Amino acid sequence: VEVIFMFPTDLLKNEHRVIEQVLCCLEKLAERCDREGHLDKPAAERALDFLRIFADGCHHAKEERHLFPLLEARGVPRERGPTAVMRCEHDQGRRHVAAMTEAVRGAAAGHYDDVTEFIAEARAYVRLLRDHITKEERCLFPLANQALSSADQGALLAAFEKVEDEKEHGKVHDLYLHLADDLADDLQVPHPEVNITGPVGCCSHSLR
Ligand SMILES: [Fe+2]
Ligand SMILES: [Fe+2]
Repeated sequence: VEVIFMFPTDLLKNEHRVIEQVLCCLEKLAERCDREGHLDKPAAERALDFLRIFADGCHHAKEERHLFPLLEARGVPRERGPTAVMRCEHDQGRRHVAAMTEAVRGAAAGHYDDVTEFIAEARAYVRLLRDHITKEERCLFPLANQALSSADQGALLAAFEKVEDEKEHGKVHDLYLHLADDLADDLQVPHPEVNITGPVGCCSHSLR
């Protein structure tokens, strides 16, 4: 019998802390951009790279491919339920990331409109994701912890681990944890409270 010592949603929560760290970085970038009228292109590109690979590729993938379908299989309505709202917000986030990527390109070519576009998109994205994370942690995750059996929880942890394994055995995940810390140091943003490399880990990979 496998003993479940943590909820899969705890892993997701720890990933949220890392994502929030990068949201603070993005907020700071937008603030500076607003004050100085020019965009720090390398820092913006690193933040966007993190959002694409870690936030979307690692984190949203675990939710969309595994957590949401399992909840729906256990009775959460697929249409118009909380998982539908979360999917829709992930899509909105992707559109903001695409718009920011375009804006960075234009700003680097000297288009001032793209500088203001970047600021607006960055602020909208930060608002969206913070709100999204709050909804998941206050509503969806407690619901999941209740609705899923311990066998479900175990299967979910194993599925999360597989998501990491697909990415060069967690190497990609670790790489982006470092990127988040380096970017925060460069922009003087504090690191999150949780010890992301401790026994609880921030991904299934660090459980090994
Ligand atoms: Fe989500
Ligand atoms: Fe999430």
